[in-house]
Amino acid sequence: MTNFTRNTLKGRTALITGGAGLLGPRHAIGLSSAGAKVILTDINAEGLEIAKNKILKIYNEAHIETYILDITNLDAVKNFQKTYTSKNKYIDILVNNAALNPTMKKVGANVTGKIEDYDMDQWNDEINVGITGAFICSRVFGTRMAAEGKGVIINISSDLAIRAPDQRVYSPTMSFDDIQSYKPLGYSIVKTALIGMTRYLSEYWGHKNVRVNALLPGGVFNNQPQQLVDNVKKRTLLGRWTNLDEYEDAIVFLASESSAYMTGRSIVMDGGRSV
Ligand SMILES: NC(=O)c1ccc[n+]([C@@H]2O[C@H](COP(=O)([O-])OP(=O)(O)OC[C@H]3O[C@@H](n4cnc5c(N)ncnc54)[C@H](O)[C@@H]3O)[C@@H](O)[C@H]2O)c1
Repeated sequence: MTNFTRNTLKGRTALITGGAGLLGPRHAIGLSSAGAKVILTDINAEGLEIAKNKILKIYNEAHIETYILDITNLDAVKNFQKTYTSKNKYIDILVNNAALNPTMKKVGANVTGKIEDYDMDQWNDEINVGITGAFICSRVFGTRMAAEGKGVIINISSDLAIRAPDQRVYSPTMSFDDIQSYKPLGYSIVKTALIGMTRYLSEYWGHKNVRVNALLPGGVFNNQPQQLVDNVKKRTLLGRWTNLDEYEDAIVFLASESSAYMTGRSIVMDGGRSV
């Protein structure tokens, strides 16, 4: 729940992509408890229902609608925009949140997904959802925002846009010799691309009063293996992982008039890990 008032985003409509995942529902709780209507979208129909119930349990006044929407499909996103929005009703807050984060685990003696044997289908999927999907949604909803003379796009990037992953955190001995899994290259590429997209679109639509910013979260605690939890804590200035609800105010800040003079920029919230 946000610390902003219930009127902060009154009358505004927010669309969140990847809304059935871990963080999407938390963005929804922040935005709806600040007064916005929220449209939660994902390709996972069952996950969307679970997410909606989770949100309503925490904030029962939330105005949540759910839609199945594949953001990699330009026609589907255009159709959604056409059927959902009318002359007086449009998405004025877009949260580009969907991304793939494939795990690369040790199988037998080998760790799969290293640079040497990166699966090209996985690579294409990562780029397609994380970059192309964010571009398609920005293109479709941003164009309408520009026509209306008001709107906000928030790109969910990662601290991995501004630092290299330290693969040793996936090793029980914090060494390069026994790394059990790897953070895939695609993830770093996608999250860095969103910073470029943020800058480009902020220039492109700035004079139309469409602001584009990015949030760079650090890793959220979600019952990861103890050894990983401990290794990351040691590399984080605040000495802990973030809690699930700690980004809600940042999302509301970026969506609201509180950040009216901010565009093309990023908020880094990673407990100091990238410092
Ligand atoms: N969880 C973290 O620790 C963390 C840290 C930093 C940044 N982030 C970023 O935050 C965002 C959300 O992370 P999360 O942990 O909630 O991810 P998640 O994997 O839990 O959720 C992602 C959602 O995207 C959906 N999705 C996949 N393909 C799609 C498509 N084609 N169209 C629409 N939706 C699609 C999935 O079904 C899933 O529900 C991501 O961009 C991630 O990179 C997360």
